[in-house]
Amino acid sequence: MKPVNWFIRLEDINDNTEVEALQETAFGPGRFARTAFRIREGVPHRADLSFVGLSGSMVAGSVRLTDILIGETPALLLGPLTVAPEFKNRGLGKALMWTALEAAKKAGDKVVLLVGDAAYYENFGFQRVPFGAIELPGPVDPARVLVAMLDGGDQPTGMVGKPYGEAF
Ligand SMILES: CC(C)(COP(=O)(O)OP(=O)(O)OC[C@H]1O[C@@H](n2cnc3c(N)ncnc32)[C@H](O)[C@@H]1OP(=O)(O)O)[C@@H](O)C(=O)NCCC(=O)NCCS
Repeated sequence: MKPVNWFIRLEDINDNTEVEALQETAFGPGRFARTAFRIREGVPHRADLSFVGLSGSMVAGSVRLTDILIGETPALLLGPLTVAPEFKNRGLGKALMWTALEAAKKAGDKVVLLVGDAAYYENFGFQRVPFGAIELPGPVDPARVLVAMLDGGDQPTGMVGKPYGEAF
């Protein structure tokens, strides 16, 4: 399908219902039990690093970044990344990814973690984490734990936790 020049802007509070609806469509009601969702539970996503892509006034896609810790190292968890089914394969996912990663780099963030398909995310500089180097507080397929170092530095190691040291 033909790529589109998407209009992307920061997510604001009025987008929340539409963003939640995209997540419900993409991941269903079981999403709250997923480890990545549980890590984000109770932690607000970064308002300066969460974006929506619009088709007219409709939210067609969304990406969020949330502060986490990997061991003692501050990092970001990327996700959910969602595109409405009718807008898939038109470049919106890519545009949201590059927008969010550029913004994170500009903000001085250095590490981005996500749980997802390597085949999609390696296009944006994500790599598989060596087995056991980064542990998540719940079940996850290790082949889907991916990290990008925005400054080219060494990958952090350790347990993923909420910022401010909150327990799970
Ligand atoms: C994954 C998702 C965000 C991609 O968004 P999109 O706007 O459709 O993707 P883009 O148009 O930027 O890119 C399309 C390309 O990515 C590929 N692609 C899409 N999903 C992929 C996946 N899971 N694995 C590998 N490649 C994938 C497409 O085949 C296409 O390839 P091409 O450019 O060679 O034709 C979207 O399909 C989606 O919302 N899926 C459901 C939710 C989800 O799985 N989110 C990611 C996990 S958090």
